[in-house]
Amino acid sequence: MGIAAAALATFPLANVHGVSIRQSEFSPRVIHGVDAKIGQFPYLASLLYTTDLEQDGAFQAQFCGATLTSPTTLVTAAHCVVDQKSGEQTTAAEISAGFARNLDSSTIRIVQITNISVHPEYNIETSENDIAVLTLTAPVTDIPILNPLIPELAAEYTAAGNAAQVAGWGNIVVSGNKYPTIFQVGDVVIFPNSSCGGGKRNMVNGINFNGFSNREVNDSVMICAAGVNSSKEIVDACQGDSGGPLVVTGSAGPRLVGIVSWGEDCASTYPGVYIRVSAANDFLQETGAMPISIPTVPPTVSVLPLLGELRITVSLSQGDAAVTQYAVTVTGPNPANPTTTQTLNCFAAPTAQNSSGTCSVTGLITGAEYAVTAISANEVGNSPASIPIIAVPSDQPIAGEVKSAKFTRTSAKFSFKPSNANSSPVRTERVICSPIGSGAIRSARISSDSAVVRNLTQSRYRCLSRIVTDAGSADSAEKVIRR
Ligand code: ARG
Repeated sequence: MGIAAAALATFPLANVHGVSIRQSEFSPRVIHGVDAKIGQFPYLASLLYTTDLEQDGAFQAQFCGATLTSPTTLVTAAHCVVDQKSGEQTTAAEISAGFARNLDSSTIRIVQITNISVHPEYNIETSENDIAVLTLTAPVTDIPILNPLIPELAAEYTAAGNAAQVAGWGNIVVSGNKYPTIFQVGDVVIFPNSSCGGGKRNMVNGINFNGFSNREVNDSVMICAAGVNSSKEIVDACQGDSGGPLVVTGSAGPRLVGIVSWGEDCASTYPGVYIRVSAANDFLQETGAMPISIPTVPPTVSVLPLLGELRITVSLSQGDAAVTQYAVTVTGPNPANPTTTQTLNCFAAPTAQNSSGTCSVTGLITGAEYAVTAISANEVGNSPASIPIIAVPSDQPIAGEVKSAKFTRTSAKFSFKPSNANSSPVRTERVICSPIGSGAIRSARISSDSAVVRNLTQSRYRCLSRIVTDAGSADSAEKVIRR
């Protein structure tokens, strides 16, 4: 399989640092990164083969990077813990994790791993869902975590051209192998999808990068990034950086946006390919790598007044935590005793992740005022309630919509989205066309959501559907038709 397999074939063996290679001319890092500053990326862990660690130390044992996303979880690439030939999973005891800027540091903090969860849809061939969660034996509470990016913030954080950083102890030279003791930080930019799986070229600081085809990169689950430094050198991750973080800082602070997955060689004119973290949130939540947070913003509420009923649609506010349910509260006069107040609830579940939900409260007094508020909720808590809006259950009909019109010679054929009589007997339902300019108004009866209007002698009309019931009438928006 194309480029993905080629890059995976060069996946480092147990002792990536075993070979010593002569120093290259320029000072190369990640590839063309720089030494991490003290305190930078404290949540970056090195993954170490336990046996090599015991025998030769962390520098020799390092094989991948990982990110602390909760006190008990590290997020890494699946290919770091799955044998690429046999498909067999590494056991938790075979690997350890180390926290230290310098792998040779005597104060490196080694933590043990008790469990490895590989994404159930990890595909060795295509590298889709190349993500795994490592559970630690004991919580690490004194090292800051990095939160994974949530879908609600994805548009902002993964916008094309955004500055991002990649960090790791991977190879720092384009040809041959040379590994740093201090992890390297590379400045890169997020590529547009059109230049990731969309095949288009992308110009970064004077260098024209190639795009991958959609057979090589599925950009719904992968994201591309690369950089060009001030000396016009390409900045990229390389072998040994896999599993490490791609970090973007936006309005909500730094977030784990990508995980180093694969590339076409290193620092070539193809960008590096990363796992798109916002597309793996369900897996991260299921494995405990993403603490579910309480919704903080009240939802948005809209009300459709019906006969003795309010139909309420609740939508999540942009950027808030994932929700599993909305709860609506309707307060107003009790039909059994209208001088007293009653409170009724209805509940709605989002139909897709964080989409809106709709529910109805019935048995209300038509014509009376009710206050409507809603909260959004998930496993860990509720948002504040929205500001109450006043709604009045109504017997008024609800207008439909002119969906399409075909105007030929002197007649026009219409189709409609149906009006809603709202439980009142319908007197008439017609389409009415007024000429733009002078001439006669023409109309026709709507039946089975369609109608034909004849004797249209003018060339342009404004047409609408009108429903008249015992309770009132409602007009749709106008649609202009022309011959
Ligand atoms: N698969 C590599 C690893 O295991 C990472 C390659 C990243 N390559 C790149 N050009 N960005 O370390």
